[in-house]
Amino acid sequence: MGLASLNPFGMAENSPLSRQGGTYRNHPKPEIMNIVILAAGQGKRMNSGLPKVLHALAGKALLRHVLDTARALEPARVCIVVGHGGEAVRAAASSWEDAAALCWALQEPQLGTAHALQQALPFLDKNEAATLVLYGDVPLLRAQTLRQLLQAQGREALCVLTAKLPDPTGYGRIVRDRNGGIVRIVEEKDASQPERALCEINTGIMALPTARLPGWLARLSCDNAQAEYYLTDLVALAVADGVPVTSVSVDALWEAEGVNDQVQRAALERRWQRENAQALMRAGVHLADPERIDVRGELLCGRDVVIDLNCVFEGRVELGADVAIGPHCVLKNVRVAEGARIHAFSHLEDCAVGEGAIVGPYARLRPGAELGPQVHIGNFVEIKNSRVEAASKINHLSYIGDADIGSRVNIGAGTITCNYDGANKSRTVVGDDAFIGSNTLLVAPITVGSGATVGAGTTLTRDAPPEALTLSRAAQTTRIDWKRPVRKTKNS
Ligand code: UD1
Ligand code: MG
Repeated sequence: MGLASLNPFGMAENSPLSRQGGTYRNHPKPEIMNIVILAAGQGKRMNSGLPKVLHALAGKALLRHVLDTARALEPARVCIVVGHGGEAVRAAASSWEDAAALCWALQEPQLGTAHALQQALPFLDKNEAATLVLYGDVPLLRAQTLRQLLQAQGREALCVLTAKLPDPTGYGRIVRDRNGGIVRIVEEKDASQPERALCEINTGIMALPTARLPGWLARLSCDNAQAEYYLTDLVALAVADGVPVTSVSVDALWEAEGVNDQVQRAALERRWQRENAQALMRAGVHLADPERIDVRGELLCGRDVVIDLNCVFEGRVELGADVAIGPHCVLKNVRVAEGARIHAFSHLEDCAVGEGAIVGPYARLRPGAELGPQVHIGNFVEIKNSRVEAASKINHLSYIGDADIGSRVNIGAGTITCNYDGANKSRTVVGDDAFIGSNTLLVAPITVGSGATVGAGTTLTRDAPPEALTLSRAAQTTRIDWKRPVRKTKNS
């Protein structure tokens, strides 16, 4: 069974974690639109030198989460408005695969959310009916919710994403007339007492008619408590112009929650991890405890995978069918083939583990380690940039770097490849069926022939021929007449 077919993200298009940016089978293609991502705010409360939208959630920058959601909608244009730390944000984004498709607008100084949108205007496609405004610090919004928003906007209207909160403090409130029609949005700082009692809030996310934007934005004033140009004031302008104002309400509030400080970042990270764990379990993965797994990237699992407590998965990790991961393991960019077992406290990075192999406990596989089927790697063994072929065993306390180890090789405890002379790295080659005795030093470049045996304690500086015993060892002596020293007493 292929891994991809069991990817819990791929299956659940309506999951908050659905794989985004691909094609979707069950949805009609949505309207093409512009997307503007507001990211010029300073993010003072993060207390950090890193711009807020670059802080990571589940191993991915907040802004990258928003962009992935945006991409799922296949927009005509995506414009990111930056200000504070804008250069750092652009520099980070330059390595993203869709970098060339992004437009950047600079907002300097920051005079409010409408002013931010105004800076994006020159970059928008005027022929697209809708322009969707997202926040760079609201990472978990679902593409599905945005599709509903666009549908309710219907090309002509202004549609606001709202939420009902038991405690609406800090948010703009939605003011409706007797018939339930939205009249305007009032910011908390400008609101009267009765308005503050309203608990339907503006999430800040809106779909707007593109053609109206230049006119509306030009008409705004900053005559308000914060002396800012408010995006929310477009609602009253729409009403005045007879443009319909609609709304979509989010049920799952975390979707619309923003990150302002590390407390909120961590809370949303937990939420993401919990949703992700649920998706994995629904796809059949056995998690010892869904509260104690951290996925910072993409984890693809085959059938009947078992994952014990406190494992961290980073980058792209693929676990084949019947793989078992012990507690406290870290796997980053790893492929583990069917039936392999990774025991407790192992650390694997940029490497591949073959079918039915056994790794750990306390093993370290560094970049370029490639284990064939049925290989056994035991405790306190470090492998780097090396291939180990089928059924070979390196079970205790060894360092294997820059080596090609054949099949059915047995490497004894404490074996070390001396791969580095202080300037250059050299390779060690060990043929099939070789047996390396314990505490051997393999001084590379060096070759051990197939079927060779190397005696324990050897420092191998010349090639060991196949099918023969090679050893270097000081001759053993015994002194029968030798006496152990005894401690001198004071009086003697
Ligand atoms: C805004 C909304 C408020 C809503 C709330 C939801 C306005 C006037 N108010 O308020 O109704 O309930 O969000 O969280 O829109 N930004 C810029 N440039 C600026 C100012 C802000 O790019 O000049 C960006 C920020 O980086 C952020 C977003 O816009 O991503 C929202 O800014 P923020 O200052 O948090 O707005 P609020 O006052 O919370
Ligand atoms: Mg805010």
